[in-house]
This record gives sequence, structure tokens and C-alpha cells, in this order.
Amino acid sequence: MGLLDGRVALITGGGRGIGRATALMLAREGADIVLTDLDGAVETTPYPLATRDDLEQTAQEIRGLGRRVVARHADVRRQDELDAAVVAGIAELGGIDVVFANAGVWGVRPFWEISETEWAELQDITLAGVWRTAKAVAPHMIERGSGSIVITASINGLEPSAGSAHYVAAKHGVVGLMRNIALELAPHGIRCNAVCPGTIDTDITNSQVVRDLIAGGAGGTRAHVETVSAHMAALKGRNLLSPNAIAGAVLWLASDLASEVTGLAIPVDGGHMLLPGFNPLPAA
Ligand SMILES: NC(=O)c1ccc[n+]([C@@H]2O[C@H](COP(=O)([O-])OP(=O)(O)OC[C@H]3O[C@@H](n4cnc5c(N)ncnc54)[C@H](O)[C@@H]3O)[C@@H](O)[C@H]2O)c1
Repeated sequence: MGLLDGRVALITGGGRGIGRATALMLAREGADIVLTDLDGAVETTPYPLATRDDLEQTAQEIRGLGRRVVARHADVRRQDELDAAVVAGIAELGGIDVVFANAGVWGVRPFWEISETEWAELQDITLAGVWRTAKAVAPHMIERGSGSIVITASINGLEPSAGSAHYVAAKHGVVGLMRNIALELAPHGIRCNAVCPGTIDTDITNSQVVRDLIAGGAGGTRAHVETVSAHMAALKGRNLLSPNAIAGAVLWLASDLASEVTGLAIPVDGGHMLLPGFNPLPAA
């Protein structure tokens, strides 16, 4: 018996990283999956995004677990593409019980140097993309009188981060959006919660731009990121956390084990939020 036997979960940003780990964990627990990701680049994102191959590989791994999968390219900037993924999921898999609104992009630049385009693109994907994803599925869930929506926020939805004002603003927005969706859908028996990852071992944190940022200049390595990540966690022996740590929290929130839980933003961060802050930008 799996925790999600007979359920269908739609996932955005499912080609790789946290989205892929969650797709596989939900599938292992019995869910069929509507797997979506971008097909193309985002102009201002400082690292490459998922490819067609990433989406197909994740889909194959889900099939390998004996679950059904509908794999589609859907840009969360496009309501029509998200709506089409929902329609396909309902037609091919019988309905949608769980949504994991996970797609997001990160950026780094002092706020006074962020261009209009970079600001707008990041908000369009990381904040408005979550709204569009929930919007695409809400009428279907309301009609059925049930559902669980889980959103990927961030610890940057709860605290600032020097050099990422656009990302921090978007993730704080995601937490507010989650709370409003939870409030508006509660009378319909639908729950909505967010997970707030700490520093997770994915293509973002393994990108050269993050390595160089943490090293304080060109030539940053994974070791630099691991050292800083170890300082970010309170729990013993942690550095970059596994995407499966997030997948486990999503599984719980998606399942009936959390049937009385809605409107929460839950840090999954190795205890980072317990720690007093430090100043990474000492006054000159
Ligand atoms: N890695 C971390 O340390 C960390 C920490 C906190 C929050 N997060 C959040 O977790 C989520 C997943 O990130 P990840 O770490 O797995 O990195 P990732 O870059 O591997 O995953 C993000 C996914 O979103 C997809 N995506 C980007 N733009 C899209 C668009 N316009 N339409 C559809 N899909 C799009 C990407 O192709 C990618 O598959 C993001 O929302 C990110 O902000 C990550």
C-alpha cells in the first residue's frame, strides 16, 4: 500500500532536481504523474534549465516504477500550456488530486543593478507561474471537492538573501500566495501548503555562478558550496541537502497523513531557520 495509491499528481519543473526527486517519490508511493517542464531557455537566468532529455529521462524512470505518466512541455509563463497539461492529465489519467507547483528560477545581482527584464522574468516564472499553475487546476479540484496543492517556496521566502532581491521578493510572494490559496480553497475541501527548502543539491547550487558567488570570485568549487552549506545547517554533518528531503515533505503534505494541515510554509533546511544570522556583507 502506497500513501498515494490511485492518485494523480501534476508537477511543474519536474524534469530534474527537486521536481524529479518528488515525481519519483510520489510515483513510488503509487501516484500516476503529469510531468511538465520548460522546453527552452530563459534569457536572464544565469545557468541552463532542464532539457527535453531531462523530461524524457524522468518520465522513463516513472514508467520504470510501473506508474503511468503524461509528460508535456509547459512553460509556467503560459496559462494555455498549463491548462492543456491539466486537460491532458484529466483525459489520460482520470483526474488530478495533487499539484506540486515547483518550477522556479534564481538570480543574483545587487538590487540596484537588476534590469527590468530580469526582474520581470523572474517574477513571471517564480511567483506568477505558481499562481497560473494553481489557477489551471482549481476549477477541477473545486468540482471534485478535494485536492492538495504543494508549492516550492524557499527559506528566501522567510528571510532575505544578499544579492537576490528579485528572488527573495518572489519567494516571499509565493508564501503569501500560498496562504491566500489555502484560505480561498479551504471551503472546498482543498489544502495548500509550501515547503521552504534550505540549500539543496541541484543544478542551481552546482552551477558555476553559485560556486563563484560563494567563493567570492572566479574558480569557485563544490567544496566552497559545501563549506558554506554546512554553516547554514544546524543539524550535525549536513551540507548540501538531498532533493529527497524536499520530496519527503511534499509527499507528506500531498497525502492524507496531512489531511488537517493547510496554509503552512514548512522549512526543510537542516535547522537553518533556528540559527542566528550572520553578516555576509560587512560595511566597507
Ligand atoms: N536548490 C536549492 O537550493 C533551492 C532552495 C530553495 C528553493 N529552491 C526552489 O526549488 C525549486 C526547484 O529548484 P531546483 O533546485 O530543483 O533547481 P532546478 O533548476 O533543477 O529546477 C527548476 C526547474 O524549473 C524549471 N523551469 C524553469 N523555468 C520554467 C518555466 N518558465 N516553465 C516551466 N518550468 C520552468 C527548470 O527547467 C527546472 O527543471 C525552484 O522553485 C527553486 O527556486 C531551490
